Amino acid sequence: MERLRIIIGVLIIALAGVMLYLRLSGRPGDALQLRQNSGFSRDMTIIAHRGASHLAPEETIPAYLLARDMGADYLEIDVQRTSDGDLIGLHDDSLERTTNATTVFPGREKEPASEFTTKELLTLDAGSWFNQAYPKRARETYKDLRIIRFSEFLQIAAEGEAKPGIYIETKSPERHPGIEEDIVEALKEEGWLDRKVKVGPAVIFQSFDVNSLRRFKEIAPEVPRVLLISQKMEAEKGWTPLLEEARPLIQAIGPVGYLMWPWNTGKAHRMGLIVHAYTLNSGWQMRLADWFSVDGFFTDRADQALIKFRQAEINSAAILQLHGY
Ligand code: G3P
Ligand code: CA
Repeated sequence: MERLRIIIGVLIIALAGVMLYLRLSGRPGDALQLRQNSGFSRDMTIIAHRGASHLAPEETIPAYLLARDMGADYLEIDVQRTSDGDLIGLHDDSLERTTNATTVFPGREKEPASEFTTKELLTLDAGSWFNQAYPKRARETYKDLRIIRFSEFLQIAAEGEAKPGIYIETKSPERHPGIEEDIVEALKEEGWLDRKVKVGPAVIFQSFDVNSLRRFKEIAPEVPRVLLISQKMEAEKGWTPLLEEARPLIQAIGPVGYLMWPWNTGKAHRMGLIVHAYTLNSGWQMRLADWFSVDGFFTDRADQALIKFRQAEINSAAILQLHGY
């Protein structure tokens, strides 16, 4: 019995030691100071990944209205360009997964969205796939939603009481040469480069592509830039060389969740870089991020994140209904 007590005691002490080590490795002190000095949010930043995309079809009007009105700090969007030069929000290269392109444009559904005109894209239903994939979250009003135009996204973010910032990714930018200029021009036209939002910078640029970030730095140096980091990028270059190389270009990194280990996060903090991990959808992942001193995260579950970190009371159905969905 005595032996068992000793073993349990040793295990508890060892576990506490590991927890403390994980906590301190993320450099919580550096994180707080960095957040304050850099103008990023002092609290955990909650970024609605493709809108409130657990509850509504990703990158559509209701997904963004919902994320905005529930109080997400940032609305995230993947920006691409149509063949006639309009900016749209769409994650995948092709239209196959999130629209009915297979029916409307048979044989073209695997083509890049950039091969389609705006008029063609706006004939597509970007909502019914969600109802089929997630029947429990389906809504009649999601049928026949349109792919969102960037101008609509900007308008949603600017309207209402909530005042979220916008977190803009250039998706496959090599397919859309000059898209950075188009984005900056649209932001200037709508006054986004001078706007004040609830917390942190009003606009943040993000990309997996350093060339795209370099271009943003040239044309809108005042807007913070985030290098997204996939497992493949880390495996090819290694964490420290990757950060050192990108450091002159960026204020923050966006590592995939598997890379947000506190020693990685701590290293980024020591280099003066904010850390926003993607894409954390479970409660335990969000808590772990907090324990590791991660500064914010992209999530499809902005509702759950806001309940956890802000004690928010959210009635998603009421928000959707208010906007006619
Ligand atoms: O932008 C953060 C995260 O969205 C990157 O991954 O593939 O969802 O755009 P992805
Ligand atoms: Ca993205």
